[in-house]
Amino acid sequence: MRNVLVTGGAGFIGSAVCRHLVGSGVNVLNIDKLTYAGNLASLASVDNAPNYRFARLDICDRPAIAEAFRAFEPDHVIHLAAESHVDRSITGSDAFIETNIMGTFSMLEAARAFWLGLAGAKREAFRFLHVSTDEVYGSLDDEGLFVETTPYDPSSPYSASKAASDHLVSAWAHTYKFPAVISNCSNNYGPFHFPEKLIPLVILNAVHGKPLPVYGAGTNIRDWLYVEDHARALDLIVSRGRIGEKYNVGGRNERRNIDVVRTICAILDRLRPAARPHADLITFVTDRPGHDLRYAIDATKLEQELGWRALENFDSGIEKTVRWYLDNEWWWRPLRDKVYAGERLGVLSDVPATAAIGG
Ligand SMILES: NC(=O)c1ccc[n+]([C@@H]2O[C@H](COP(=O)([O-])OP(=O)(O)OC[C@H]3O[C@@H](n4cnc5c(N)ncnc54)[C@H](O)[C@@H]3O)[C@@H](O)[C@H]2O)c1
Repeated sequence: MRNVLVTGGAGFIGSAVCRHLVGSGVNVLNIDKLTYAGNLASLASVDNAPNYRFARLDICDRPAIAEAFRAFEPDHVIHLAAESHVDRSITGSDAFIETNIMGTFSMLEAARAFWLGLAGAKREAFRFLHVSTDEVYGSLDDEGLFVETTPYDPSSPYSASKAASDHLVSAWAHTYKFPAVISNCSNNYGPFHFPEKLIPLVILNAVHGKPLPVYGAGTNIRDWLYVEDHARALDLIVSRGRIGEKYNVGGRNERRNIDVVRTICAILDRLRPAARPHADLITFVTDRPGHDLRYAIDATKLEQELGWRALENFDSGIEKTVRWYLDNEWWWRPLRDKVYAGERLGVLSDVPATAAIGG
């Protein structure tokens, strides 16, 4: 049976990956530091499974990571642990540099040392999948799609830290022939999504009759992928992807933010009618600094080479997601009450940039 080490498995996508792998009979070791974004409740359905283990570790702690490799002997690594919220990166980038760049470096070196100690078929089969984002490519105008050869042009501290980590992984594959693969995925949505991100924030604010904040004019476009489709893609890429290659992952589901919010409101009007239409709660707020206009992924390589297809389209996935939040208050209530109540993040103070640079 395959042994897969997952980092960041208590997060949104990582927990979907763990649930998918454990359900497929794979042995999983989930390594997670449990930052504000890590939540073991997302793993309640698997945490008693004999093929699932959890270790609370920081990926920057290289000796501890090396020991985890030695004890677990992974065949595959799916590296997701990261700071992931653009708004938080705008007002506090330290953790992004530390975890996303230094943490990936630590993972690469621990994994390479382990791989060098392997022999024969074990060494041949070892793979390290680095999970990245389409945000490394920067912003698109109205036309075009990101392909794997699109030049990197990150614009937020988050995307710059992810781009830096992608470059480290590519260099390790090139220089050391380390068997790494990179995936770059578009925006995910679905169950167990921390309520600071657009879709869960809008669902929960709407349920509570609170304003639904939409940045700028709401015309920024994202290409939405249901998280379980991403989890299947990652399993496929780590199992069959070619060493040193990149694979874009996306569902061909571009939507303007305002249309995403209106769709959620329409579903809630049907499932949980209120005195007034939920769309009356929409409030346009000052835009995010440096907000990228449009992301859109061309996933042809993944589809043609590895036979992956998204199973959900946006309409089916968003309906499932809204229903999940309505049915699973046990999961989100403690987060809303104790960790994050929906306040605005990522707003800069009005200190002029020159004054800030000059100290
Ligand atoms: N969410 C998206 O739409 C999206 C899209 C494409 C790619 N990605 C990438 O996928 C990965 C997972 O994203 P997510 O949305 O699930 O993020 P998330 O914020 O929900 O989860 C991140 C997890 O990493 C853990 N973590 C953070 N720092 C750590 C450290 N130093 N050591 C160990 N664990 C640590 C957290 O506790 C948390 O469980 C990230 O690398 C992200 O860049 C996300």
